[in-house]
Amino acid sequence: MTQQRNILVTSALPYANGSLHLGHLLETIQTDIWVRFQNLRGNHCIYVCADDAHGTAIMLTAETLGITPEQQIANMQAEHEQDYQGFLINFDNFYSTHSEENKVFAEEIYLKLRENGHIASREITQLFDPEKQLFLADRYIKGSCPKCKTDDQYGDNCEVCGATYSPTELINPRSTISGATPIEKSSTHYFFTLPAFEKMLKEWTRSGRLQDQVANKLGEWLEMGLQEWDISRDAPYFGFEIPDAPGKYFYVWLDAPIGYMASFQHYCNRSGVNFNDYWAEDSSAELYHFIGKDIINFHGLFWPAMLESAGYRKPSAIYAHGFLTVNGKKMSKSRGTFIKAQTYLEYLDAEYLRYYFCAKLSSAVDDIDLNLEDFTQRVNSDLVGKVINIASRSAKFITKGHDGVLSAQLDNETLWQQAVEKSKEIAGFYEQREYSKAIREIMALADATNEYFDSQQPWKLAKEAGKEQQVLAVSSQCINLFRLIMLYLKPVLPETAAKAEAFLNDSLDWSVELQPLLSHKINKFKPLMTRVDTDKVEAMVAASQQSQAQAATPAKQAQSQSSSNEIEFEDFAKIDLRIAEIVNAEVIDGADKLLKLTLSLGEDGQRQVMAGIKSAYQPEQLLGKLTVMVANLKPRKMKFGVSEGMVLAAGPGGKDIWLLEPDQGAQAGMVVK
Ligand code: MSP
Ligand code: ZN
Repeated sequence: MTQQRNILVTSALPYANGSLHLGHLLETIQTDIWVRFQNLRGNHCIYVCADDAHGTAIMLTAETLGITPEQQIANMQAEHEQDYQGFLINFDNFYSTHSEENKVFAEEIYLKLRENGHIASREITQLFDPEKQLFLADRYIKGSCPKCKTDDQYGDNCEVCGATYSPTELINPRSTISGATPIEKSSTHYFFTLPAFEKMLKEWTRSGRLQDQVANKLGEWLEMGLQEWDISRDAPYFGFEIPDAPGKYFYVWLDAPIGYMASFQHYCNRSGVNFNDYWAEDSSAELYHFIGKDIINFHGLFWPAMLESAGYRKPSAIYAHGFLTVNGKKMSKSRGTFIKAQTYLEYLDAEYLRYYFCAKLSSAVDDIDLNLEDFTQRVNSDLVGKVINIASRSAKFITKGHDGVLSAQLDNETLWQQAVEKSKEIAGFYEQREYSKAIREIMALADATNEYFDSQQPWKLAKEAGKEQQVLAVSSQCINLFRLIMLYLKPVLPETAAKAEAFLNDSLDWSVELQPLLSHKINKFKPLMTRVDTDKVEAMVAASQQSQAQAATPAKQAQSQSSSNEIEFEDFAKIDLRIAEIVNAEVIDGADKLLKLTLSLGEDGQRQVMAGIKSAYQPEQLLGKLTVMVANLKPRKMKFGVSEGMVLAAGPGGKDIWLLEPDQGAQAGMVVK
């Protein structure tokens, strides 16, 4: 076997400001498959990640929730870790950029940049929210476009005429945080002198470390000329204070990639791996960053320049992927295709999605579509119909009459050899991140195996006298091919592979020469995977729609505020909020999350509402409880009947959803003000 490689791999650090969705999972699943593949091949591959915990948005979210930013990021980190675990993402370490290690590295790197003359400082003028006492990033300012005069445009560009401008040029600007009219205010900012690295970056970006598409995009920026990069933000800001600059903080994107190092350091502390072996300038270890196409400038320009100045090694390569669309369109909350990791896991098995993404991923930066019909069909036909089928149809002929012991010889040596020879090609595809090609080859093997089984007709032979050995040899051949197929799929389907190992009474190892299992006792076959249930897929979409339409919990308010999804006062005024009494609550057949509620609005009669609160309440617990409802919501026909309103509840979801208890004075029908 070839020499063991030492490899460090990262996925981009998700913001600690919101839940993970399937777009995030596209990235971590891609990375995790690669890492598992490397380890399965006998390489030493370490996988680290972290939450990206800093920035204004997190500070504002925490404020809205009435908690500290530290609490907010701890809550999010717990949620993120649970989601990743649910999707079988096998991090060696998942950390936070708000950590001691990261502070130490950020300061050290900054001081090196400064010593090397790569930090400049000067006064700049920005818009400032006089009420919040906060400098406003462009996305927190709205006003009328200076060119076409359309109102309600963001601080940097106009969605109507396409003009780009600086926020100080907006007519009638206002802060989207407080509504106040911003004033111009100047302050000192610190800059990283990126232009000093132009020559290095022009070479580095063309040295085969980047996909062509990425190198070309960065090439365009390099041709336009690099600008100095503003790496400081004024207090109040949630982040690390800059050394020797009280009241100035590192911009979140300065310490975010340094978070890769900090997470790895934290891993080194407990594993005994040596940090410098991986990060020293002359390190022979390999370093790869898996990222989305939206953040290539940070990883392909700023980051290598920082590493160069600070005397660390640069990445061996950066692997960018495209964006996830669902059913051919951008993920959308109202279509129910903005699917959170948690919601998916409530309804479906993680391995289905791992397989589907794998079957579609390539090394290109193209977007990937999750078509939900195709998803169901593909998983069912490939995994259940082809792969698992091989084992389920062969196993019985080995258990019966042979006590589960495989034949001493293969029935068709050539077929086995062909499958073994595919190993190299399939491994090459995984290595190159051409996963869809790997899957195509693996499924071709499954097809060939099923065809072989069909052509030998063991079920007929089994009824003929004296054919026992042939039946055993044919079935053993298929079990051996199944074993190879499961080995090739092990990076994608770790749980099913573990079940297959239990069934085969053998471990699936891709770092040794592949030999058939002969005269080997296997265990009784148990179903290794169930089919994707279309109803569950539909229910997941309904729940995604539901969860978005549910009560505006503070977290959601904060999120929509930070992404400037605000509604106007007039929109709010349209909502007729009333106190309603729950007079009946019923379980709905087939609905995992919904209860059918009958709500009384006192003199204004009753309404039927489907509410996604089954996870928190038994129907009988709800009787007599009061809730706030949106009484003028247009009735919606849902899968389980018409819903004539929306119930508001509080809490993060799951078991923690709270309604009002009937107490002082609130009565059904009252208008909520
Ligand atoms: N915090 C930064 C990354 C810092 S890395 C030093 C960030 N966070 S993010 O939460 O917005 O995104 C994390 C990763 O998920 C990014 O690589 C991003 O491209 C990826 N994706 C986020 N939405 C995505 C899709 N809809 N589809 C595919 N990937 C997506 O950026
Ligand atoms: Zn305009």
